[in-house]
Amino acid sequence: MEIKFTKAAQLKEKPDFHCLGFGKYVTDYMFVMDYDEGQGWHDPQILPYDDFVMDPRCVTLHYGLETFEGLKAYRTEDNRILLFRPDMNAKRMQKSNERLCMAEIPEDMFVEAVKALVNVERDWIPDLPETSLYIRPVTYASECTIGVHPSSSFRFYIILSPVGCYYPEGVNPVKIFVEDEYVRAVIGGTGFCKCGGNYAASVKAQEKAEKLGYTQVLWLDGVHREYVEEVGTMNVMFKIDGKIVTPPLEGSVLAGITRDSILHILRDWGYEAEERRLSIHELMEAAKDGRLEEAWGTGTAAVISPIGELNYKGQITTISDFKTGPLTQKLYDYLTGIQWGKIADPYGWTVELN
Ligand code: COI
Repeated sequence: MEIKFTKAAQLKEKPDFHCLGFGKYVTDYMFVMDYDEGQGWHDPQILPYDDFVMDPRCVTLHYGLETFEGLKAYRTEDNRILLFRPDMNAKRMQKSNERLCMAEIPEDMFVEAVKALVNVERDWIPDLPETSLYIRPVTYASECTIGVHPSSSFRFYIILSPVGCYYPEGVNPVKIFVEDEYVRAVIGGTGFCKCGGNYAASVKAQEKAEKLGYTQVLWLDGVHREYVEEVGTMNVMFKIDGKIVTPPLEGSVLAGITRDSILHILRDWGYEAEERRLSIHELMEAAKDGRLEEAWGTGTAAVISPIGELNYKGQITTISDFKTGPLTQKLYDYLTGIQWGKIADPYGWTVELN
């Protein structure tokens, strides 16, 4: 793919890498490529970060035909740049796009675009503990019409943001509110996709949880309000009686790349890791009987995030004495060790930029 490059007249001043937060800053450049029926993907370019001009009829603004991804670039102690399983993001975006009748981006094009942009923006990759460069690829439908039907034109773009921890708690336990009123997704819908609509459906419950002093919500299935699905921005895992239990990928839960990586690691470490339906009652019973040993979320932004408290209908349970459990910590250290190149990657998951 030949990527046209337009140089910025002036580069921005870099923020203080000690207080990055999440998603507050963007780098100097972005990647943009368009799709038109009959022409395919065309005009890939890296150009100075700027606004898009949009016709008010753009179907994305009306009907939410949008998908996105999230991955990170890491700077190692010896100054190498690593990506983590970018092929998985490419594949997941293809699945999301397929569900929304949006043009799929070939895996090699997606990965090449990510690599090319990160390469241009190497200086923006922070070098402090827990920091990285968050990569946000997006596809949106760009056709201008008021009718509801699949779009015939799309834009794919990538922006970059130097980030620290996603949660203000950092890598400390978070409090989670079990949501039993609103639902995020149902099987047959778009729950497995990384699309804006899923997140739009979630903010009402997020607002409610925040008002009650909780960081995120734990979603229950949309039919029975019974089976645990996922947490706002992460998949979820529980250690019950020594075994790991995580909700299965039946269509309403996002196929997290961190989730997949952690399941591999756990099984290699000899843990039994079950992907099965887990009812909220079974979970709360296990917590009451002291059999719920640890709970954590997994996600690119959230990494491995210990869960210290669950509130289900006012029934509050504290997990691991509101401390990071030993297995949660071990997983965090191992995964981030691989991602930041501190320990050997036996899986071939990291991709070094040349
Ligand atoms: C990620 O973990 O990369 C996500 O996309 C979560 C996000 C909505 C912040």
